[in-house]
Amino acid sequence: MRALEVEPLHDQFGARVFGIDLTGPLDDETVAALRDAVDEFSFLCFPNQPMTDEKHLAFTQRLGEPEAEHVTLGKTGKAVYFGTVGNVADDGTVRRGDHPNTKYQTGNEQWHSDSSFRAVPSYVSITHAYEVPGEGGATEFASMRTAYNRLPADEKERIDGLQAVHDYVFSRSPVAPVDPNHAASLPPVVHPLVRRNPSTGAANYYTGSHARSIVGWGGIESRRLIDDLNTGATREEDIYRHRWAAGDTVIWDNRCLLHRGGGYDADKWRRRMRQTRVVGPATVT
Ligand SMILES: [Fe+2]
Repeated sequence: MRALEVEPLHDQFGARVFGIDLTGPLDDETVAALRDAVDEFSFLCFPNQPMTDEKHLAFTQRLGEPEAEHVTLGKTGKAVYFGTVGNVADDGTVRRGDHPNTKYQTGNEQWHSDSSFRAVPSYVSITHAYEVPGEGGATEFASMRTAYNRLPADEKERIDGLQAVHDYVFSRSPVAPVDPNHAASLPPVVHPLVRRNPSTGAANYYTGSHARSIVGWGGIESRRLIDDLNTGATREEDIYRHRWAAGDTVIWDNRCLLHRGGGYDADKWRRRMRQTRVVGPATVT
């Protein structure tokens, strides 16, 4: 097995990885080492990658099935595999802070796990930074695995076996209107509240902003538990803040991490990042 050259980024999770070009051909051993590193570190940053969309998609396919981006899929039925994060449109023009698309993206400033609102949620997101703001725009990450491990035994016992409803319209519509076709394409889904990594068995709870309620529980009780779990994972000391450099390719494990956008002045700076996601594994078999 090829050993990756890694430097830890935070005492709970995260690593910077050197000596690997993700845009070149990757043999099966290297891909297996990358998967192991995702299982171990949850967050991997590869600096100075000479990325293009074509290479980004090819790399995504090495890790699994690319996920069709849900906004375009929901609105038009068309499968595209990239989302653009930031305020730069495809034609290179800037969408300022009052542009609907820029506003819509502020929903990502709540702690969430990408695609937790899908019946088969995301394994990892892969994001490449092309243009980054001179200030702000960091993305914050926190681990629901270390948070789960901190819970007292009786609390672990209490939440094991519970199921949570995840609902995109619930989490997004307070921030910006959701297109009716898009909303209809994403009915609420149910996932186990506690997940286990299929390779290592490591457990974590699985909440974030899309988690709406606990199946079979009343509204207030549901909300209290989900809020407590979200808060318990995102204390100041739990957070790794990633300050993007142009050329960073980052992979994060959506099965166990929460993240949120840090916000930036969209009237002043350009921010352009391209993101793909890899499907699954299914939480319910
Ligand atoms: Fe996200």
